[in-house]
Amino acid sequence: MLTISAIKADVGSIGGHTRPSSRMMEAVRTELQRAAERGLILDSDVTHCGDDICLLMVHRQGSDDPEIHNFAWSVFTAATTIAQEEALYGAGQDLLKDAPSGNVRGAGPGAAEITLDETAKERPAEPFMVFTADKCGPGAYNFPLWTLFTSPLYCAGLMLPQMKVGFRFTVIDMEHAGADRVIELDAPEQHIDLAVLLRDENRFGIRAIHSRKYPTQQVVAVSTDRLHTIAGEYKGKDDPVSIIRTQGIFPAPEEVVSPYFTAHYVAGDARGSHHMPLMPAPINTAITSAYCVPLVACMAYSVSKAGKLSEAVDVFANPVWDATRLKAQQKADEMRRQGFVGPAMLPTQELEYSAFQQSLAELEEQFRIVEKPGPT
Ligand code: 13P
Ligand code: MG
Ligand code: MG
Repeated sequence: MLTISAIKADVGSIGGHTRPSSRMMEAVRTELQRAAERGLILDSDVTHCGDDICLLMVHRQGSDDPEIHNFAWSVFTAATTIAQEEALYGAGQDLLKDAPSGNVRGAGPGAAEITLDETAKERPAEPFMVFTADKCGPGAYNFPLWTLFTSPLYCAGLMLPQMKVGFRFTVIDMEHAGADRVIELDAPEQHIDLAVLLRDENRFGIRAIHSRKYPTQQVVAVSTDRLHTIAGEYKGKDDPVSIIRTQGIFPAPEEVVSPYFTAHYVAGDARGSHHMPLMPAPINTAITSAYCVPLVACMAYSVSKAGKLSEAVDVFANPVWDATRLKAQQKADEMRRQGFVGPAMLPTQELEYSAFQQSLAELEEQFRIVEKPGPT
């Protein structure tokens, strides 16, 4: 078996929530190379999307492995030390516990992992994509994944015999602290039930998707932890990572990215408190836009049966995405023109975790009740 683990965290960034420093990135790369030399992992890549560092590791330890998770934590701790030395902003931001109990989930970093049988005859080759997004929550993937795996309008491949039978979604209640609260729903039959849940991107997120024709084959994994569910207060946005296996029994990469043409509005952005469109961007892009237009990057890889990664293709770096980027910027402009009003900002229950709530509480205290004049 092979496991692909994508574990990401924000442990400090330059001049605000922009990007990690080159020294941090270099140190992380060195740590992963050393882990490969001592045999813990088979191969790796290191990227960032905005201020989040993503460790991509291929290994044979399985999903949720304490050694891999503790190692990832130690890498983020080392990067934090550099961020502190460089006086960067938010050093150690996502390391919310002193040390994880063998699993970074619930401790701050986000993890998406898929374990696969590299000898399965239905997967003669193993292409996959890693999506990293900054300034948004895990529910940002609800729209692109629901459309991709339920609608032939976005994925004509769903009409093929190997996909016609559909996919099983595991949806998680992200407001539930502690143990995972999950439900499994089958598309296409239950695609409306899925919509009922997934429309609420702040509460429900897709944790995993499996093939129904080949039930052991997991096609999607998403990091679905919300930092406020862990910390009880605003600690930065959750900035999710997802892994999607492609081709053959699964959608093709060109189908996987088709919902991103929409540049759909997501929750997040400046102070994690607004709605803005999700802009597809090249990997390793810093966040420098007004109100932090959220970015999503996508890297396509192949992995060999021995666990070796190919070089990567930076999917959204292609100029075909320029038109979507322009559209996203125009959608952002439209939304920001109405400032803080209505859908421009998140609903109050989401702001509860941020300091905006204190400002509201101060005013709540000053309200007074004026009795309605009675009948004369
Ligand atoms: P991050 O979650 O990416 O650190 O961003 C936090 C923020 O508040 C940006 O305005
Ligand atoms: Mg940050
Ligand atoms: Mg971030």
